[in-house]
Amino acid sequence: MNGTEVSARFGGMALAPGGWDILLGGMNKPSIPAPVLTELNRQANHELAAAHGYTAMAAWCEAETLPGCAAFFRRQAAEEREHADKMLSHLLDRGVLPEFAGVPAPRQDFGSLLEVAQEALAKEQANTRGINAVYEAALAAKDYPAQVLMHWFISEQVEEEKWANELVTLVRGASCAGSLASLDRHVSSLLEAGKGD
Ligand SMILES: [Fe+2]
Ligand SMILES: [Fe+2]
Repeated sequence: MNGTEVSARFGGMALAPGGWDILLGGMNKPSIPAPVLTELNRQANHELAAAHGYTAMAAWCEAETLPGCAAFFRRQAAEEREHADKMLSHLLDRGVLPEFAGVPAPRQDFGSLLEVAQEALAKEQANTRGINAVYEAALAAKDYPAQVLMHWFISEQVEEEKWANELVTLVRGASCAGSLASLDRHVSSLLEAGKGD
């Protein structure tokens, strides 16, 4: 089937280059605008990469005998996978088979817990930019289902940037070994209180 035939089959809807490849076996009519599909697929992969990054940060903390921070970052990794799943489910519900990208190697060369906290903040700020880009595509395309989906993520990122900022502040304030150990013991209760889920 050539592109014209595929286009006719799918109601003349314009698809992204290579878009034919990601339709679910040609059985479902795609009901998502191509630019939104591209952005949502990109962000789903970005969330999976963030999960990989948080897993590496948890490993670093474990190796540095900071079990509280390690557990906290493992939970963040699980949350990022849940975020990816929400986006992937949305694509599947709308008749699109998502495209999975290669996951880049995460940063592991941290010199201190402060560097880990700063990396977490940078990661969340990047997540926010990516989520805003999906939302902007959904607005431009008048894609109301995707807009509603992204409302949840936009609110979530307020909480995510909040804990990441608090972590940087807390770690900056824990200047000696004893206070760092105390922070590690209480990091979950200190940061989880303000989280929305
Ligand atoms: Fe996320
Ligand atoms: Fe996050």
